[in-house]
Amino acid sequence: LWKLHDFAQQTIAEIRERVGDNRVICGLSGGVDSAVVAALLYQAIGPQLSCILVDNGLLRKQEAESVIAEFTKHFKTDLHVVDAKDQFLKELAGITEPQEKRRRIGYQFVECFKAEALKIKDAKFLAQGTLYPDVIESGAALDGPAATIKLHHNVGGLPKELGFELIEPLRDLFKDEVRKLGLELGLPEDLVWRHPFPGPGLAVRCLSDITEEKLSVLREADSIVVSEIKAAGLYRQTSQAFAVLLPVQSVGVMGDARTYENAVAVRCVNTDDFMTATWSYLPYEVLARISTRIINEVKGVNRVCYDISTKPPATIEWE
Ligand code: XMP
Repeated sequence: LWKLHDFAQQTIAEIRERVGDNRVICGLSGGVDSAVVAALLYQAIGPQLSCILVDNGLLRKQEAESVIAEFTKHFKTDLHVVDAKDQFLKELAGITEPQEKRRRIGYQFVECFKAEALKIKDAKFLAQGTLYPDVIESGAALDGPAATIKLHHNVGGLPKELGFELIEPLRDLFKDEVRKLGLELGLPEDLVWRHPFPGPGLAVRCLSDITEEKLSVLREADSIVVSEIKAAGLYRQTSQAFAVLLPVQSVGVMGDARTYENAVAVRCVNTDDFMTATWSYLPYEVLARISTRIINEVKGVNRVCYDISTKPPATIEWE
């Protein structure tokens, strides 16, 4: 059996040996993989690690804050937070086409990351959370959605362009092993069991064009979905659970007045490999609480729908 403790110790020793007294840069995304890479590196080389978090304004509620807390208080890393919220919003203004949104976000991300990485002097290595399934996939000819996903996720040609050597300590691991390794390294359960979140973030869950107002409505609704799923003890049994802000207004009543407000879709799926997925058979009471809370607490929303589409033919995300 795989002994993760031994794996951790061995990997830490190897990193130390390879890095010597050089500096390593590690991008943090808020996700499990990059957090585990950073935790490993921190244990291996401590102060020689610099982390970069690009806050693109498309993260979930409290997401940047919790990453910052984890990697400045618990692991006291040299964390560089790039506040690029305005820049991303500007680039995305008026853009409605999903692939164009992704393309712009990917491009901005690389630009921001590069600019910050160049400010960090003496860096020789770039660490990435490539997992075993990514290694296999990139061996095959990538085309279609998978290619687009990886395109954004890994910083692609960046290491070469900046003259960095790549460190990929998770290359031999599957996701469940990465989670166990994260726990072994002392990362909180909350972070280790976090559902996957797409690189383009809330942009692909805020349909049509993106504004700060829409993002803030979506963020509130999404946080209610996740917190009710957690409160019902269903978070670990589901693969992804989130809200989508629809570009639709519909009529409602409030007291004596007629309203004309936004609709939110709730998406919750179960899947093993994210290639196929079924919608989760959430208990009615949980759906009811989610709906009531969103309508009562999120200003500007008067209707909540539950997405009961399987993948295929629907995808997990709406864009
Ligand atoms: P779909 O929507 O294609 O999603 O069924 C499958 C899985 O991939 C995630 N996803 C992305 N991840 N960049 C990412 O890093 C993307 O552009 C992207 N699009 C979808 C999605 O959240 C799900 O886990």
